[in-house]
Amino acid sequence: AIPLVLDVDTGVDDACALLLAALHPGLDLRAVTCAGGNAPLADVVRNTLTVLEVAGRVDVPVGAGAVRPLLEEPVDARHVHGSDGMADLGLPAPARRPDPRHAVELLRDTVVSAAERGEPVTVVPLAPMTNLALLARTHPDAFARVGRVVFMGGGAEISNATAAAEFNVFHDPEAAAVVLDACAEHGVPVAMYGLDVFYDPRVGTVDVERLRAAGTPVADLAAGLVSFHHRRFADDTATIGDAGAVAMLLLPDAVRTERLPVRVELSGTWTRGRTVVDRRTWTGDMRHDPHGAAPAVVDVALGIDGERVARLWL
Ligand code: BDR
Ligand code: CA
Repeated sequence: AIPLVLDVDTGVDDACALLLAALHPGLDLRAVTCAGGNAPLADVVRNTLTVLEVAGRVDVPVGAGAVRPLLEEPVDARHVHGSDGMADLGLPAPARRPDPRHAVELLRDTVVSAAERGEPVTVVPLAPMTNLALLARTHPDAFARVGRVVFMGGGAEISNATAAAEFNVFHDPEAAAVVLDACAEHGVPVAMYGLDVFYDPRVGTVDVERLRAAGTPVADLAAGLVSFHHRRFADDTATIGDAGAVAMLLLPDAVRTERLPVRVELSGTWTRGRTVVDRRTWTGDMRHDPHGAAPAVVDVALGIDGERVARLWL
């Protein structure tokens, strides 16, 4: 099983991702860290603990992390995810408390102990990357021991938060830039599961009926999450969103990637937070790269077999 840590801002689709990561036998979920994003941090932590409780995974430590982005003001997305950040399902409060360690310390401990056992963890950020950026700046030696980063964020062509930028990267562009730089510096392989593929794996109302018929607490939660988005967007299909990035670990051949240089735009008036994916086919002088350090070369997801990925999640 692939050892992994999720970094989340739960979040309807983060919850979908947590269920997959918590329950799929091909994955070994070692820890979950939380950042403010879709909802304020306290709501994110509560939602995350709730999902893990429903999944029966109270053994997985949950660390509370960054309350806000490095420079940006916090702006949540409760208009998309509901007033509690997770579909307003009325679930009981979790019995468990978060781990006493800050998310950055929990990340460090998890990354280092896995590396020492010769099984480096994959870190999967599904939120603004504030926690992982803080790990890079606080414990660079630990960051260097991350096996791989697979993040949901950005897009080569598609955006959502602004005309140029995707929500997670737009929310904390400096953090995304720090993480990409740190991956390049330490040689940590990094993949970007961005908006070019994010909307493709979808589940429909028929699937929700099947989930409800299963009648288990996990299937009920999954049905509640998906049907919330069916109602909110008045659409009889909904993306599984962040869960697709977790599925990519299990179905690498269902996602077409290209290795491309990626930078995060930090200063554009209308383009701040854009992931600038260099898809030019020529190299050398023509790159006119204004920066000294080489950009991170990222496995950018550009195509997906959405049906296969959605089926895996179901
Ligand atoms: C991302 O933003 C959040 O609303 C989702 O959880 C996802 O991580 C999509 O832009
Ligand atoms: Ca998210």
